[in-house]
Amino acid sequence: MTLATTPDPVLRDLDEPRESDVPDDPDGDDAVRRPAEATESSRASRHWWDRNADEYQDEHGAFLGDDRFTWCPEGLDEADARLLGDPAGLRGLAVLELGAGAAQCSRWLAARGARPVALDISFRQLQHSRRIDLQRDTPPVTVVQADAAVLPFADGSFDLACSAYGAVPFSADTAAMMREVHRVLRPGGRWVFSVTHPIRWAFPDEPGVEGLTATSSYFDRTPYVEQDEQGRATYVEHHRTLGDRVRELVGAGFRLLDLVEPEWPDGHDQEWGGWSPLRGRLIPGTAIFVSERG
Ligand SMILES: C[S@@+](CC[C@H](N)C(=O)[O-])C[C@H]1O[C@@H](n2cnc3c(N)ncnc32)[C@H](O)[C@@H]1O
Repeated sequence: MTLATTPDPVLRDLDEPRESDVPDDPDGDDAVRRPAEATESSRASRHWWDRNADEYQDEHGAFLGDDRFTWCPEGLDEADARLLGDPAGLRGLAVLELGAGAAQCSRWLAARGARPVALDISFRQLQHSRRIDLQRDTPPVTVVQADAAVLPFADGSFDLACSAYGAVPFSADTAAMMREVHRVLRPGGRWVFSVTHPIRWAFPDEPGVEGLTATSSYFDRTPYVEQDEQGRATYVEHHRTLGDRVRELVGAGFRLLDLVEPEWPDGHDQEWGGWSPLRGRLIPGTAIFVSERG
């Protein structure tokens, strides 16, 4: 990744990363379905995203845009979908973005007058947020490195919370995460998040025809785990059915306002991993939960 040299204390490490920023690749990458509790999942996510942030931003940065708020590989933009409400009403709102990556969504929110805080478990992802701010010469997005399972904020700190594929799919105890988001939101505040559509867990994560035949049970909640030679998790994703997600939200005190399943738009031919036009026209790839704090 080409970066300008700069005295910025955070960005400097993008050119010469410290070992602690970008850990070495683990030995072996065995993919299995097995239990993975919260600590193991969080540690795997932090290290995986620190190791892979540069490649992720290289590969997807153009699609994500520096200040675009897109919910999913189908390309549904908040500017059109308005799942957070009328964009004109965002001005002045305190917004928490969970699993923000390089904070592209937060930058879109800031441009509409909101006051976003971009939270991510990966320091390297947040360094990319700073890189984008410096390259654009715009005020830096406020970033916080933390695990979304334990939010470092006082009760009722935010008017709105959102997440585009951040944190939720990677966390072992999303019921607890929903309660955390509920705690830091003010009454009436929206919580909108996108995840891989749960039905995709029944299919191989492949963009071609091999990704169209169900090979696993939709009801099997066993996490997907990549592990090293010692059996330590290096990457973890957790599955919930649609019903599980609704129960977790309602159990935490949210009202479900909508469940959006974006259709694959005509003319959109850009693949993203297992998300492709072929599959997108047949089965949903993304589920977006739109809820409101009771
Ligand atoms: C697929 S990326 C999405 C990032 C961004 N929303 C985007 O659309 O590019 C998932 C992000 O979630 C973050 N993440 C994973 N587990 C997390 C956790 N437990 N707490 C906070 N962030 C987490 C990762 O570091 C990564 O930046």
